[in-house]
Amino acid sequence: MSGFKDVQHLFRFAGLFVAVILAFLVVRSYVVPKSFGEYGHYRGAAIGEIAAHPIKFAGHQACASCHTDIVETKAKGAHAHVNCEACHGPLATHASDPSAMTPVKLDTLVLCVRCHAASAAKPKGFPQVNPAEHMGGVPCQSCHNPHSPEIRPDTGKSLAAGGAR
Ligand code: HEC
Ligand code: HEC
Ligand code: HEC
Ligand code: HEC
Repeated sequence: MSGFKDVQHLFRFAGLFVAVILAFLVVRSYVVPKSFGEYGHYRGAAIGEIAAHPIKFAGHQACASCHTDIVETKAKGAHAHVNCEACHGPLATHASDPSAMTPVKLDTLVLCVRCHAASAAKPKGFPQVNPAEHMGGVPCQSCHNPHSPEIRPDTGKSLAAGGAR
């Protein structure tokens, strides 16, 4: 009865499947965190853990209460909608107590280039330059005021005429 012998093989194989599935269920019950699925397909306790992180960004309203002059300058220029902390980094500590933390000096060669370096991936209308050709070895902020970056009349005019770009 060679047919029966083959069926035996199938039963053993099915048994192996059942054993593996049982082992999977047992391991899963130990490994899956308790709060998983409490609200959705994630760990419910993660919400509390994330909410408990210290706040790092103060928000630009906070800066406005002390640095009124800069806020005014910025509101009139092309960077009106670039928030303070997009450039200066998270400053909640500084905003709640300025003596506790002085913001680090920014390197414009890193900062400005991050947003303005020419790239085919950027929208065509966004102002972009080839940094090396454009700046000619001079730091960005000696020609552009970071808080109102349209060209300064004193440095800008002759350069614009010379075609610096
Ligand atoms: C409670 C008032 C206060 C708030 C709010 C505040 N600052 Fe200041 N900030 C100061 C004072 C005072 C100084 C100068 C003291 C120093 O140099 O440490 C300063 C200095 C700075 C400097 C220059 C540091 C340097 O090079 O001398 C930067 C940049 C700055 N603040 C950015 C910000 C930004 C961005 C915010 C909003 C997230 C902010 N500040 C919120 C009071 C404040
Ligand atoms: C586009 C980037 C950018 C934005 C947006 C920006 N800053 Fe600045 N900020 C700079 C750079 C660059 C400097 C000069 C280098 C330095 O001091 O770190 C500077 C300097 C400063 C200084 C030092 C002293 C001075 O007057 O130059 C203060 C204070 C300051 N920023 C506050 C602010 C506040 C407040 C805002 C939001 C209202 C803001 N910045 C938004 C880039 C920026
Ligand atoms: C977080 C991104 C970001 C950073 C960093 C940044 N910019 Fe800008 N910049 C912008 C945006 C957004 C605009 C407005 C673009 C628009 O109006 O379409 C702008 C506009 C400008 C313009 C005006 C171009 C025109 O239309 O005439 C100049 C110049 C400029 N930025 C120079 C700088 C310089 C210099 C720095 C460094 C101090 C800098 N930017 C840092 C985002 C940035
Ligand atoms: C030597 C002075 C000088 C320096 C340094 C300089 N720029 Fe400019 N930049 C100009 C002038 C002048 C214009 C205006 C050109 C025009 O409108 O034809 C300009 C225009 C721009 C524009 C607008 C381009 C556009 O298509 O509207 C951006 C963005 C810019 N600069 C970013 C930067 C960045 C980033 C740096 C530093 C890596 C920098 N600039 C350094 C003089 C300078």
